[in-house]
Amino acid sequence: MKSLVILISGRGSNMQALLEAGYPLDSITVISNNPNAAGLEIARKHGVATAVLDHRSFPDRETFDAALAEKIDACNPELVALAGFMRILSDCFVQRYQGRLMNIHPSLLPAFPGLGTHARALQEGVKIHGCTVHFVTPALDHGPIVIQAAIPVLPGDTEQTLANRVLALEHRIYPQAVRWFMDGCIRLTDNRVEVLNAGVIETALYSPELSE
Ligand code: GRF
Repeated sequence: MKSLVILISGRGSNMQALLEAGYPLDSITVISNNPNAAGLEIARKHGVATAVLDHRSFPDRETFDAALAEKIDACNPELVALAGFMRILSDCFVQRYQGRLMNIHPSLLPAFPGLGTHARALQEGVKIHGCTVHFVTPALDHGPIVIQAAIPVLPGDTEQTLANRVLALEHRIYPQAVRWFMDGCIRLTDNRVEVLNAGVIETALYSPELSE
């Protein structure tokens, strides 16, 4: 039995990209902390199991995280993929899933952890922007990097145009990273990720063609 758990809070477009990747898995479960997450409907349409665990009905972060861990463990997943899961996770939770908890972040980490990444990229005048898939560690938006993809920042770019182009790349690299993990191609040592059978080009994607 091979299974994947995906945690979401909202729109769910990265989750959708993972659901459409066609992994040979026995089960996929989508869990949302937000009962109104649009992604839940998408997940149901894809015929995967869904669950809601509303963080507002828990007294504190630790209690919520413990309940979430219980739900996740019931699925016995190989990997837990955060896909727009808008919760800071307790150290205890992160440590429990060490080496099998992945996240997608809309910046080239370690630049711009946290929120508002596209606006901050524009503000700083960076010439290259992008997204990162990484293993989660207790530090926010930090941890061993699996794959990154970059685009050039163009003179007329706005927060929205950047967000759109970066999102298109997110939908390419997250399914790829999860596939590598499920295929056993990822070796994690000393905070570094080595992807077996993949070269620099595959793990560092530069997409000027998406800049139009
Ligand atoms: C994405 O930009 C992802 O990188 C970030 O939150 C956003 C979620 O979007 N962590 P979606 O719910 O996957 O559409």
